[in-house]
Amino acid sequence: MDLFEHQARELFEHYGVLVPRAVVADSAPEARAAAERLGGRVVVKAQVRTGGRGKAGGVRLAADPAAAYVTAGQILGMDIKGHTVHRVMVAEPVQVEREFYLGHALGRAAGRFLAIASAEGGMEIEDVAARRPEAVARIPVDPDQGVTDAKAAEIAAAGGLPAEAAPTVRRLWRVLTEQDALLVEVNPLVSTRDGAIVALDGKVTLDDNARFRRPYAHAADTADAGDPREAEAAARGLNYVKLDGHVGVIGNGAGLVMSTLDVVASRGPPADFLDIGGGASAEVMAGGLAVVLGDPDVRSVLVNVFGGITACDAVAEGIVRALDTVTLTKPLVVRLDGNSAARGRAILAERAHPLVHQVDTMDGAAARAAEPGPAVKGGALLPTPQ
Ligand SMILES: Nc1ncnc2c1ncn2[C@@H]1O[C@H](COP(=O)(O)OP(=O)(O)OP(=O)(O)O)[C@@H](O)[C@H]1O
Ligand SMILES: [Mg+2]
Repeated sequence: MDLFEHQARELFEHYGVLVPRAVVADSAPEARAAAERLGGRVVVKAQVRTGGRGKAGGVRLAADPAAAYVTAGQILGMDIKGHTVHRVMVAEPVQVEREFYLGHALGRAAGRFLAIASAEGGMEIEDVAARRPEAVARIPVDPDQGVTDAKAAEIAAAGGLPAEAAPTVRRLWRVLTEQDALLVEVNPLVSTRDGAIVALDGKVTLDDNARFRRPYAHAADTADAGDPREAEAAARGLNYVKLDGHVGVIGNGAGLVMSTLDVVASRGPPADFLDIGGGASAEVMAGGLAVVLGDPDVRSVLVNVFGGITACDAVAEGIVRALDTVTLTKPLVVRLDGNSAARGRAILAERAHPLVHQVDTMDGAAARAAEPGPAVKGGALLPTPQ
């Protein structure tokens, strides 16, 4: 999970890394009040979990609180690479002397930790690495030894960072290891005229596998005002992605869902991706169906399950359970194959819901689900009147 910049900033501060004073704001008046608190002149920054905010006009200087009000009003609601800006961070402007790049990452290809440092900060590090690979130092870090004072000095020197940056290099390594992060990146890390080293930006990716031992990540997740269906799916432990289109696709296993999306896409764009995972229970299936059907863009749903660890009868029971508690108003096309397919099909056949269609093959099911039907507005599943 990626943290927002303001969350990364807070973590950095906790570990003793110098960061600009900053306040988050959800509205233009809040941004103006924040600017007043911070001394008037501020930088207003879009808080979205994607890069390239500056280029998109999402990072701007405001000369005074009135300008912060106007600027925040322009940035809030902006779309940056498909991410809507719901929040800005209002930060104190720093007198930058030089900009550097520093990252600690788990290098999967190398199979070890890597510190990445460069004197060409502020721009996209991928571009610098492509243009002038010698300008980007990559220093392997032994996980048992970690970043010692000596190692931090070595990393700073290799990347052309001032020697004063070494303690920051070490503190950011602590963020990586103690917070179970896969990436801690500061671009730019800057030196100021009075010789301070300040992290002006922060990107932290936490390892979802370590979620259970990280209270911070939990707080970060609940603070996120993202797509409500994605949040609901995450709360149910489902892997869900909202796409553009009208067919909701549910399957067991990301590979099967991806190939189902391809088959549907050859007939019309898919709407949602939902992976119920291996060994899914009836409860998981019912929950997944509720999430996908709750998307007003979805006009039909395709459930494609190839039972392995997941038993098709459990999937069928989940569908029946969903049908019992809510009113289905859109076609539901189901293809069950593999483990307990015959029992699963029988359960659905017995329920005999007029909007549930069973198709034996993936191609046939995709064709059926992609058939243009009447667009149904509003929620697909309405509570059954008691
Ligand atoms: N508090 C600040 N004071 C002075 N300048 C700042 C401050 N914050 C950002 N800047 C300037 O704005 C530039 C862009 O900011 P930042 O790196 O946070 O956004 P970005 O890189 O465009 O976003 P992303 O990292 O998501 O691509 C920085 O390189 C820096 O020059
Ligand atoms: Mg940046």
